[in-house]
Amino acid sequence: MKTSAIADANIALVKYWGKRDQTLVLPQNSSISMVTDGLYAHTTVEFDSKYNRDIFSLNGKNIDTKSKGYEEYVGKFLKIVRKLSANKKHVRIQSSNNFPTAAGLASSAAGFAALTAATNKAFALGLNKRELSILARQGSGSACRSIHSGFVEWRRGGKMDGSDSYAEQIADAKYWPEFRMIFCITTKKEKKIKSRAGMAQTVATSAMYKCWLDAIVEDLKNVRQGIIQKSFSLVGKTAEHNCLKMHSLMLTTKPPIIYWNEFTIRIINKIIELRENGLECYFTIDAGPQVKIICLESNIPKIVRKVQEITGIEDIIITKPGQGARIVNKHLF
Ligand code: PMV
Repeated sequence: MKTSAIADANIALVKYWGKRDQTLVLPQNSSISMVTDGLYAHTTVEFDSKYNRDIFSLNGKNIDTKSKGYEEYVGKFLKIVRKLSANKKHVRIQSSNNFPTAAGLASSAAGFAALTAATNKAFALGLNKRELSILARQGSGSACRSIHSGFVEWRRGGKMDGSDSYAEQIADAKYWPEFRMIFCITTKKEKKIKSRAGMAQTVATSAMYKCWLDAIVEDLKNVRQGIIQKSFSLVGKTAEHNCLKMHSLMLTTKPPIIYWNEFTIRIINKIIELRENGLECYFTIDAGPQVKIICLESNIPKIVRKVQEITGIEDIIITKPGQGARIVNKHLF
């Protein structure tokens, strides 16, 4: 039997950068994000006795199931699923993203949230949203947020077994329909340093890490309150500053991690200029060179026109608050 699911990428307004447990994927701090409505992963899972080994393909390319990359991510995830299920048959998994993979656009979040939803049905795990979020988290931390729709908080939790570290919805996708994120794709190339390795290096070496943790409670409070009150300035200002603090952690990691390129900086400067001229917008950037502009729907035409003046941006994608991971009838094979 085949089962398919779709899940959208989510972009953090208060970031997660650092784990307190690598195996269980437990974060050092809570984080808040918006689930987008159009940058998605579509995954089909089939288990059948006709397969004598697991098969995995990503964006049309077969992945060697003996490779380190596979074992650390999908292989590890399937081991957890098999512990929860009586079904020990081999599976074929095919997954495709409708946007660049591993380029700082949260493809692993969308991918593991879709894989979680599809395996939950295929293996008849019967997990509720909280349990789905916990399972997705163990694939890729930020994936636990893509289970829900709209604005979401991943609570750090305190327990050693990770049972209280999951995402919960703050507000659904319809709550603040004017909220937008404009994705400015500066390159579609894969990043050199994966976030998993990068954040571990930061926790181990950045002298700024303590400052990051000390300020996080305030950022979480402001963004949470900003979403509930629909205070765009509060959300935007806090999110932009939180992003810059995360990138200052990356810069002070030894050796330094620099995800930005020249277009990243040009877009940042453009946003600051627009704001000085009275057009309210902010930026956030993840583990990659892409800039996401946070704004309200009414300002989209003006902002897009101004950003298009920067030559060399590969793509511009406009997203609003979107749905959580869901089962779909369309299969990839
Ligand atoms: O879940 P990961 O391992 O892809 O890490 C995500 C890290 C950031 O995107 C930089 C921040 C975040 O909270 O999404």
